[in-house]
Amino acid sequence: MQYTWKDIEQHIAACTLCSLSRTRNRPVMGRGNCQADLMLIAEAPGGQEDQQGMPFVGRSGEILDRLLQDCGLDREEIYITNILKCHPPGNRDPKQEEKEACFPYLKYETFLLRPKMIVCLGRVAAQRIISPDFKITKQHGVFTCRKNCVLTAIYHPSAILRDPSKYEIVKKDFREIVDKLHFLQSSHE
Ligand code: URA
Repeated sequence: MQYTWKDIEQHIAACTLCSLSRTRNRPVMGRGNCQADLMLIAEAPGGQEDQQGMPFVGRSGEILDRLLQDCGLDREEIYITNILKCHPPGNRDPKQEEKEACFPYLKYETFLLRPKMIVCLGRVAAQRIISPDFKITKQHGVFTCRKNCVLTAIYHPSAILRDPSKYEIVKKDFREIVDKLHFLQSSHE
């Protein structure tokens, strides 16, 4: 059976596959353009996201919007989601069993979207999506390809909140991402 976006949303809304379902306020499904060529995958919803039920609405979201704007994109052109759909209390790292329980939702989102490029935001997403030994400090901005999809990772926006000097590094990576995206779009037309 082929799930639709609505089906996935309903499954996530009712999900009790891990203990985060008992502490969350609202699950956070991915958002954006369901026909986007570019998919961003981050770690897990933060406190603001948990309150509002939408990804990247807090301070990390402000950084992300600035980055997109500086690189000539906006949220309407991308799809953004998280490895976990529920907020881990205290913003702790996701546990292995939480990542595994939640992974099918991300798979369905990816299957329906069929993005040309996936950008992981931060170490946790990069280690789950690209490679378990991914080193964000050394490998950010490096492109690889899997099943006709280009993969890369950049620092998480919250890393910029902790160290604003990282913004220029992330902007440089993201400009290259946008160039690559345009190239992929033009060569698939
Ligand atoms: N940080 C994340 O990793 N995801 C969000 O949705 C918000 C903050």
